Amino acid sequence: MTDMLLEVSKNKFARTIMARVKLPISLPRRLERPKGALCDRELEGLVVLVAGRGALGAELARVLTRSGASPVLSDAALKSAFSGPGEAYGRLPRVAEAPSGKPNELGAIVLDATNLEGVEGLDLLYSTFHPWLRSLAPHGRVLILGRPADDASDASQAAARTALDGFNRSLAKELGRRAATSNLITVTDGAEDRIAAPVRFFLSRASAFVTGQPLRVDARTAWRDDPWTQPLAGKAALVTGAARGIGKAIALSLAVEGAHVVCLDRPQDDESLARTAREASGSNLRCDVLDDDAPERIASELSKRHGGVDIVVHNAGITRDRTLARMDEASWQQTLGVNLRSILRINDALLAGPLRDGGRLISLASITGIAGNAGQSNYAASKAGVMGLTRHLADQLAPRGITVNAVAPGFIETRMTAAVPVVVREAGRRLSALNQGGLPEDVARAITFLATPGAAGVTGNILRVCGGALIGA
Ligand code: NAI
Repeated sequence: MTDMLLEVSKNKFARTIMARVKLPISLPRRLERPKGALCDRELEGLVVLVAGRGALGAELARVLTRSGASPVLSDAALKSAFSGPGEAYGRLPRVAEAPSGKPNELGAIVLDATNLEGVEGLDLLYSTFHPWLRSLAPHGRVLILGRPADDASDASQAAARTALDGFNRSLAKELGRRAATSNLITVTDGAEDRIAAPVRFFLSRASAFVTGQPLRVDARTAWRDDPWTQPLAGKAALVTGAARGIGKAIALSLAVEGAHVVCLDRPQDDESLARTAREASGSNLRCDVLDDDAPERIASELSKRHGGVDIVVHNAGITRDRTLARMDEASWQQTLGVNLRSILRINDALLAGPLRDGGRLISLASITGIAGNAGQSNYAASKAGVMGLTRHLADQLAPRGITVNAVAPGFIETRMTAAVPVVVREAGRRLSALNQGGLPEDVARAITFLATPGAAGVTGNILRVCGGALIGA
């Protein structure tokens, strides 16, 4: 379904006219998305202002220089951390004399605020961002690194750490009109060496539709390696609901990064399913997840043909919208059955054998599960349930090195959203910081990031891919 405003915004003349006549709507900026597979120098040429004297200087120096970014240090004290890696990767840091005020000078601003002692330290947010924000280019990135509030030693520190979250969400809303994003990573004590993959994800184009989000990185699971290219080589993945929409994009994205993907969908979707499997050079499995024997069939297929599975993406989902008083029982049962009960049943079968240690379980939630929505009590209950099982299993499976996460999309342009009435559709697109709907590949990129070995520190998270949707924010 075409987004008319996004189409109009492609035309420079139309943009100028719209600006002159001062219409009460602003044109969305077309997001810049990545092409092809992940590469070693994912951030090549990105000028990144680094600020803050937290605990992550050395790790930031390593990930930024190795990925090809050009660091500009706001504080000469950071130079010692950046000089070694800078020489090794040919990216010597430059120390900024003072905020230049030059527009578009910076591609990203990264603030290491892991050393916040209490609320007095929050002035660092103002002193870092106020003078530099005008220099952030369109499509730029803000990334704040802090510590989780639940590990704080006193009330002032808990307040300061939580303040980062509110600040990040607000900044995301201010930056959205320029297609720029702001996100927050909280890093627990001892997980400092696990930030490379999350930092690359948030600073790269892969996260174009992710903004205003917090992501927690911890050291609960064992961690072995973080290959930057073809990170999923040799892995077997299962994607349910892969015939079209978001599921298809996930299957293709995992395949591009090296995974063998088993694409699952209902028997009646045979043709589209076969097409996805062909495009992903994977295999197909015709199966309705509601069937009584579905968990056993899936487990046996994965064990017999692929020797097990490393990545499971529970994507199959349906809506059966009606206000509760008008909803028939079948709509209630089917929605909870496909979106929630089938996930629990399939997980049980996979955890009993085929899912390998170090694996990845990722489910599709929805911002409707966070905010609720009139006419979607069945859908919202199922998606909130997905978040509950995600948090629970993350604790339970950490000793096996298995991470468990959910992605909660906002408005994504698919068959599901094309079917909603036009007014609701327009509201879904525009009520967001980025002023537009996302594409299936936006969700797929986030899931691919969570599936990589480098995301071992990310578990029990619900990552919203929603363009900074105002709903449930
Ligand atoms: P879609 O309707 O385009 O695709 C869903 C796929 O799931 C279809 O191929 C369908 O055949 C398959 N499926 C449905 N029931 C099944 C069953 N019983 N057994 C096997 N496969 C089955 O939907 P879309 O938009 O791609 O959504 C994918 C996931 O993302 C869903 O879980 C949905 O709830 C979630 N989501 C989508 C949003 C959006 O804006 N499109 C927003 C939030 C969440």
